[in-house]
Amino acid sequence: MNDDPSRRLEKSWTANADAWTRVVRGRGIESRRLVTDAAVREAILVRRPRRVLDVGCGEGWLCRELTAHGIAVTGVDYSEPLIEAARALGGGEFHHLAGADLAAAALGRFDLAVCNFALLADDVAPMLVALRQVVEPDGGLVIQTLHPWTAAGEGEYRDGWRIERFDAFGGDFGQPMPWYFRTLESWLSALSASGWRIESVREPLHPVSGRPASLLIVANALEGVYKMNRTGHASPA
Ligand SMILES: C[S@@+](CC[C@H](N)C(=O)[O-])C[C@H]1O[C@@H](n2cnc3c(N)ncnc32)[C@H](O)[C@@H]1O
Repeated sequence: MNDDPSRRLEKSWTANADAWTRVVRGRGIESRRLVTDAAVREAILVRRPRRVLDVGCGEGWLCRELTAHGIAVTGVDYSEPLIEAARALGGGEFHHLAGADLAAAALGRFDLAVCNFALLADDVAPMLVALRQVVEPDGGLVIQTLHPWTAAGEGEYRDGWRIERFDAFGGDFGQPMPWYFRTLESWLSALSASGWRIESVREPLHPVSGRPASLLIVANALEGVYKMNRTGHASPA
């Protein structure tokens, strides 16, 4: 039994890969159908990028959509079965890779990186620093994630690990997924500390409930070279 929540998070995406692929391809998540798929797509297309990196691409739906718009898309994910599912449908170049290992992977430079509900661990700095290193100097980053206010529910508004059991998605998901709840303040400071300047913060609304369906942050690369220092924090090199 491995008690490290970030290891269990990673393993859950191997165990639940088939169930996730079925739900996403079956359009089984209402907030995606009604709000968040369009929100992330529009946030990307408005910047007219030529090369996009989709980090934590899952089974690859966003890569396929962007490719259909003439964009060269690379998808990476640390779940091997999800990368295989993405490759099976094509519509992008796919790599089995963890986000923090991007800088060493020699995939070239991108105009824009996107993380759609894919920043789920407690320490996001290594991935944010790696992304800063693989985008062009004037490149950008689009993050769509759970809205902290909606996700907090009746619980505490404080960073910390939570558990997703996927109950709303039917009984196919064999393993619960630990994920790290992050406040708005925590999101913005993690980005600023990793070489990113916030351009906009959006809250796409669910048309029926009137509540935020997601938090969508667009950021631009700050000048200078960022790296992880010995204490595990990001800083200008
Ligand atoms: C909720 S799914 C979202 C998938 C896809 N972005 C989408 O919109 O359908 C989260 C994905 O992020 C991937 N992921 C999470 N952390 C990652 C990391 N550090 N490196 C690579 N992939 C990661 C998981 O394997 C999973 O495929």
